[in-house]
Amino acid sequence: MAAPRGQWSGKLGFILAAAGSAVGLGNLWKFPYITYENHGGAFVLVYLCAVALVGIPIMIAEIILGRRSQLSPVGAFGKLAKGLPGGKAWQGLGFLGVSAGFVILSYYSIVAGWTLRYTWMALSGSLGRIATQPGALDAFFGNYVADGGAQILGNGLFMLLTVGGVYFGVKAGIERVARILMPLLVMILLALAVYATTTAGFPRAVAFLFRPNFSELTNHSILEAVGHAFFTLSLGMGAILTYGSYMGKTESIPMAGLAIAIIDTIIAILACIVMFSIIFTFDMGVSKSAGILFTTIPAVFYQLAGGSWIAASFYVLVAFAALTSTISLLEVVSSYAIDELGWSRHQATLTMGLAIFVFGILNALSLGANATLSGVAPLGKTHAGVFNTLDYLASNWMLPVGGLFIAIFTGWVMSARDTWDEIRRGSEGSRTLYDVWRVLIRFTAPIAVGAIIFSIIFLGMEYQ
Ligand code: TRP
Repeated sequence: MAAPRGQWSGKLGFILAAAGSAVGLGNLWKFPYITYENHGGAFVLVYLCAVALVGIPIMIAEIILGRRSQLSPVGAFGKLAKGLPGGKAWQGLGFLGVSAGFVILSYYSIVAGWTLRYTWMALSGSLGRIATQPGALDAFFGNYVADGGAQILGNGLFMLLTVGGVYFGVKAGIERVARILMPLLVMILLALAVYATTTAGFPRAVAFLFRPNFSELTNHSILEAVGHAFFTLSLGMGAILTYGSYMGKTESIPMAGLAIAIIDTIIAILACIVMFSIIFTFDMGVSKSAGILFTTIPAVFYQLAGGSWIAASFYVLVAFAALTSTISLLEVVSSYAIDELGWSRHQATLTMGLAIFVFGILNALSLGANATLSGVAPLGKTHAGVFNTLDYLASNWMLPVGGLFIAIFTGWVMSARDTWDEIRRGSEGSRTLYDVWRVLIRFTAPIAVGAIIFSIIFLGMEYQ
């Protein structure tokens, strides 16, 4: 006899857990850096449109699929597609999602491990010592990522925390962690944002983010904005679907989806305001990729009064955000074993957590520690190494393809009667809302996502 399916304690529990999944390294690391690369203003505006027109409709679709089926992705498509065109084949979409969760977690938790190390260094004072010597941060970071033992250790510690969150189940584990960490995260970020308003770079940061210059917009930035909307909202692999399967039947799906997207977006924008205010104050260039969070930002913190406190609270903030995201990734993989293989939650969490950690060793050693793993480039030279290859594969292929088929399934394969039946509950009389969602999920979202996939294949474009 399987244990009864877990449920959130209520509307707030679901929203906090799903917002915890959405808010992560995507908001605090990826978004500031791609915003900088794409010249701010116009890119931010396109990103906001992508969240509204593609992200929110697909988020609502995933919640519908989860709550209707009361199952994680593989079981959900099996159950809902029964007797519909495509039938069992739709389960492939569930397997794609579980694999994406496995792959993303195996490298995401390595970057998350860095935040633990930096928090520790900020508290112990060693970060302050290297941050004030020119070039020392870059040198430290380079050596650190190439230190295989340190990477495996950081990854292992973060996986332990993640397993700890998922092990205790939906309410006592996932929801509890989100209930504690999300308010703390918001408080730390708000405190940093208030601080940012007092810096000389603040007006320039605001102008950079909110004064669009459309001549700087390229096709590439539009694709990047749409792709990022997927990653930052945790869409395309059934994470929100799985969380939706624990949602009460009396709550409004559109309202929850809207709330999650708004929280995620506000946090991404606040993170940009904090980082750019500080960066513009000292007029520093922003380095690409991992650099902004682990080499540019610490150098700047220690130029400010109270630098070590700012640095410590900042890395704790990033670690918190990452943890509620890694928890959602592990939950997708574990709930597959629970729902489809009949495992207990404890067995599923420990086994899957261990499997992902062991697989993640390949990533840990591919940042310089092992020449072969760091050099393999099956998908092209720009994604050399296991870590970069998997990130590219997951975020450029698995998530957009997953999202496209989720939109097609919910908009075209499922009947309007079924989708309306889910949306109707908890939001009585919202027929207009439903009609708007249906147009977006049938046309706008699949066309936009289809355009991304088309351009990656035929025009060789990439977004990250
Ligand atoms: N959304 C998270 C971030 O921005 C990452 C994440 C968690 C994710 N779960 C996901 C991304 C599921 C895609 C799919 O950092």
